[in-house]
Amino acid sequence: MITVRVPLGDRSYDVLVGHGARSELTALLPASARRAAIVTQSGIPLEVDPGLPFERFEIGHGEQHKSLATIESLCREFARMGLTRNDVVIGVGGGMVTDVAGFAAASWHRGTAVVHVSTTLVGMVDAAIGGKTGVNIPAVDGVGGKNLIGAYWQPSGVVCDLDALATLPPREVRCGRGEIAKYHFLTGDDLLAMSEVERVARCVQIKADVVASDEREGGRRALLNYGHTLAHALEIETDHALAHGEAVGIGLIYAAHLAHHLGRISAERVQQHYEVVGGAYELDTSLPTGLSAEHLVELMSRDKKVLGDQLTFVLDGPDGVEVVPGVASADARAALALME
Ligand code: GLY
Repeated sequence: MITVRVPLGDRSYDVLVGHGARSELTALLPASARRAAIVTQSGIPLEVDPGLPFERFEIGHGEQHKSLATIESLCREFARMGLTRNDVVIGVGGGMVTDVAGFAAASWHRGTAVVHVSTTLVGMVDAAIGGKTGVNIPAVDGVGGKNLIGAYWQPSGVVCDLDALATLPPREVRCGRGEIAKYHFLTGDDLLAMSEVERVARCVQIKADVVASDEREGGRRALLNYGHTLAHALEIETDHALAHGEAVGIGLIYAAHLAHHLGRISAERVQQHYEVVGGAYELDTSLPTGLSAEHLVELMSRDKKVLGDQLTFVLDGPDGVEVVPGVASADARAALALME
């Protein structure tokens, strides 16, 4: 078992990474908790025992259930069972579950402790770490969006039990690999030389360090969006036929081409992106056919992570990965053409 500390002063917490890590769950629960509300979904392969009286609530599958209606129905259940702010919410599942459980906990009595038991690769290396919680606004008359309502609410602890990965569908594994590929370029670590447990723990450590230095994304936390600007556009343009992590893989290749086109990195460094994304993690590295470059550039210029009215990207360069504002749309288009 590897323990990674997320250092946030009096809100610091441990992330336990390993096979069977769920057996240590009780060590992460607040001492004040007398009962637990477990938020999960049907089909989640892990059963947890919080060692306290608990009730278990399943939320629906699919982004449409990542909603305020789900938060209200969970909070009704919390009220019925008499959950107090000294008790604990435990989210057991992937990123959708931990985002919803975290936001319900942040809202319940204006803030109740939450512990996440992450059961997917994406959840372990990204979603469960760092305290971003929230739900979507379903689109009505063209107005809506993902994760627009939410709160920063750090968990009291996180369990990454790799036993859950044994039954993860191949597509979910691919998505996790897209996020892990991103971490290869944020530090100089050779993640491929590590065991799976070490690799997941190292990704958690990299994310923990970034979150500790910039909890509310005033600057450095934006680096975690490496590869994500094109990825968000691809998800929208393919109507989510491409899943997030798959889109991130392609987005990393695009970011490398754009950085090379702008003279920031060498052709060899672009090749390293192909070796990690396409070679080691066997993810797609080319754009799906039939997409309009104009649309993609337009969508990227609207990405919510973009600062100001010019295109902003997270790009590799001589000083490592950094936020690069002021990229001309002609350059963004030229880099798309390099991928075909
Ligand atoms: N998923 C990016 C972040 O947590 O900031």
